[in-house]
Amino acid sequence: MTIRHFLDLSDAGPAAIAAMLNDAAARKKARAALPKGMVDPDAPLAGRTLAMIFEKNSTRTRVSFDMAMRQLGGTTIVMDAGSMQLGRGETVADTARVLSRMVDAIMIRTDDHAKIVEMARHATVPVINGLTDASHPCQIMADMQTVIERRGSLAGSKWAWLGDGNNVLHSIVEAGALMGFEVVAACPEGYDPDADVIGSAVNQGGKVRIERDPVKAVEGADIVVTDTWISMGQSHAEQKLAAMMPYQVTTGLMARAKPGATFLHCLPAHRGEEVVDAVIDGPQSAIWDEAENRLHAQKSVLLWSFGLL
Ligand code: CP
Ligand code: NVA
Repeated sequence: MTIRHFLDLSDAGPAAIAAMLNDAAARKKARAALPKGMVDPDAPLAGRTLAMIFEKNSTRTRVSFDMAMRQLGGTTIVMDAGSMQLGRGETVADTARVLSRMVDAIMIRTDDHAKIVEMARHATVPVINGLTDASHPCQIMADMQTVIERRGSLAGSKWAWLGDGNNVLHSIVEAGALMGFEVVAACPEGYDPDADVIGSAVNQGGKVRIERDPVKAVEGADIVVTDTWISMGQSHAEQKLAAMMPYQVTTGLMARAKPGATFLHCLPAHRGEEVVDAVIDGPQSAIWDEAENRLHAQKSVLLWSFGLL
């Protein structure tokens, strides 16, 4: 049987993503009254262990995967790469081979996307992308769940991205092409998303474009989404912050989107940089549901990876 790695959304494809989003909503509803540490009654991952490797900081990804495994009846081993032999030169391939003999799945947060591809090539258990410099598919599963909760469906919605053309945007672009929503990326010149990511979405019939004017980008948008201007591993650059300033999500900019448009942010936020307090704490912001949905969406990613969805 082929191993179900979840390195990017395209590894699953539209039908499986739809099934995962349905399952995430159903499981979320079914356990709404249960204490967070209680196992789902069917305990579908009883006896399974997920190893998590962090080469970068994390709050949401770490806690949501850990709680997801607990709620599904499984267990986790959480490791910072710096305290592993990986952090002092053991290869990704050898790490993958060893972990595959001891655990049932691996989640890794790393820098170079090539490392996770290498991990998947040598692992004999599923490998899940917990963020790389190139993409963050688990985040966008939670974002899609949040949008469905607010609007009922994804198809036909317009998402306006403001700011840096980064890993989170790449996964939104990929999701748009797979799930039938439009993505307009408003990025300052020099900070565009990867041309290959845009090209591949367009080739699949995706409705995606880059727009320099932030006001034009948000016009008619159902979803306004942003992220930090300086991602993990990037150096702090005054020049970049200055170029991003016109793309800050303000109440004025939100007012140019569709009435009732939803604001999303994967978090952590840099308040006063990519978004002002009045928007992130305002009535259109869905960020706490979005953060919570990391837990629910990833339970379904795990179930899919284990061949149970
Ligand atoms: N959004 C997200 O991935 O958060 P963490 O960096 O805290 O995991
Ligand atoms: N683009 C951000 C996302 C953090 C969850 C980063 O890579 O740091």
